[in-house]
Amino acid sequence: MPLRPDIINILRDEAATIVILTGAGISKESGLHTFRDPDGIWAKYDISEVATPEAFINNPDLVHHFYNDRRAGLLDPAIQPNKAHLALARLETRWPSDVLLVTQNIDDLHYRAGSKNLIHMHGELLKISCNHCGLLTVWSAPLGRDTPCTSCTKTGGLRPHVVWFGEMPFEMERIYAALSKCGLFISIGTSGNVYPAAGFVQIASEEAGAETVEINLEPGSGASLFDHSSYGLATKLVPALIDSLLMDQV
Ligand code: APR
Repeated sequence: MPLRPDIINILRDEAATIVILTGAGISKESGLHTFRDPDGIWAKYDISEVATPEAFINNPDLVHHFYNDRRAGLLDPAIQPNKAHLALARLETRWPSDVLLVTQNIDDLHYRAGSKNLIHMHGELLKISCNHCGLLTVWSAPLGRDTPCTSCTKTGGLRPHVVWFGEMPFEMERIYAALSKCGLFISIGTSGNVYPAAGFVQIASEEAGAETVEINLEPGSGASLFDHSSYGLATKLVPALIDSLLMDQV
């Protein structure tokens, strides 16, 4: 269900800065699991046991196992950016005004697709940080409680560079600044269940008076808050929207 041409004309205001929010749905067709679909990650794991600061204190081995598995999965050569990731990188290159891409995903598929003005608000799976010395570094190997920090050499402090439930997402000031002056806000592949990201549509709409668009497989929790919606596969709907905005196929 692509957006109607008359709606595209409303959205095609080249002076408008654009903020895009993506979630797990955009990476689903690259082969990565979402969280809340029937085959999603939270159907197999309990959030409180693997994705909270308390879980890391109580059972670091399980937390490391969970992220080691996901890191190895992301490093599988079969996992590549799809047409939706690539279309968003093309938009950033060609759109005359600023485009900020904010992702809740911890995969690196937007980066590999070529997006540059990119915020990983929930962190990055291929990075780790050290609770002892503050080291932040890229990491692709399995991580364990006995892995020594490459900087301070202490063990037990290394953790995935991801935002757990109860922790503050990254770069919120920059995100709010962009939302409060954007002309167009596009949400892609997120169920809209997790704040603060789930509240971005209201900020864009109420503070900036932006046009707002939801692209998802099905209506998300905040569906009624969007001006326009388009439901189906991200790899079909996102390139179609970007082509229309850039007047590539109209
Ligand atoms: N194209 C478009 N949308 C899709 C596709 C697809 N091919 N496949 C699935 N979806 C949609 C689903 O319908 C669902 O609404 O993507 C959405 C994914 O929602 P969630 O699994 O809840 O993922 P997300 O919204 O990114 O989760 C937010 O929750 O657990 C935390 O930190 C985690 O960043 C994550 C946050």
